[in-house]
Amino acid sequence: MRFFIDSADVNEVRELAKSGLVDGVTTNPSLIAKEIARASGEDSVEDSGGGIHRRIGELCALLDGPVSAEVVATDFSEMYKEGKSLSKIAKNVAVKVPLTESGLRCCHALSLEGIDVNVTLCFSSAQALLAAKSGARFVSPFIGRLDDIGHDGLQLIEEILELYSHYTFRTEVLVASVRSIGHVVASARMGAPIATLPPKIFRALYKHPLTDSGLEAFLSDWRESKQSIL
Ligand code: G3P
Repeated sequence: MRFFIDSADVNEVRELAKSGLVDGVTTNPSLIAKEIARASGEDSVEDSGGGIHRRIGELCALLDGPVSAEVVATDFSEMYKEGKSLSKIAKNVAVKVPLTESGLRCCHALSLEGIDVNVTLCFSSAQALLAAKSGARFVSPFIGRLDDIGHDGLQLIEEILELYSHYTFRTEVLVASVRSIGHVVASARMGAPIATLPPKIFRALYKHPLTDSGLEAFLSDWRESKQSIL
């Protein structure tokens, strides 16, 4: 399973990428706004496109894998223009569009031009089918948000994987809105090719209390044996 980091924080992504385990990055307008506000010490942000482009460029320079950058326009022609402009930031930009009629039309147009598109805000198998038919490189089902409303997010991943297995779509399932280690492991067991992880979840994957206590015991035994040798 490939891991993307769901963050627009350039320093944090740089740190995590040192692990060698980071295969890409996803951002969205909320993450970018949060990051710009944090960087400028403000509570809210009225960003010029420049701030977004600069951050996406910095993220793209950190790794070879795809960095998703989302359009904020909602009508087709504006979305298309925005997508084209985002795609020019770096060769590893994947343009992110929402799963709306205009979004999928834009996905279709950009995909025909060889631009990778990540279709986001996917909440059903029917939507995932449309995204694949529109030529999406990635489809992002939001599993945590489905769980939040009492649905089963992982069930959606299972359905989409099963559905895609009958065809030769180029679209890869990018598990998004991941809230727990359980989400990651269950998606991996289903064979989902990619999950985008908030930094906190990525770091949590390393952890087990028995690893910590076991290491502590090994080191303490080692220190004691060195003392007795000396
Ligand atoms: O980047 C999209 C997605 O992962 C958002 O997650 O936690 O805001 O539902 P969340």
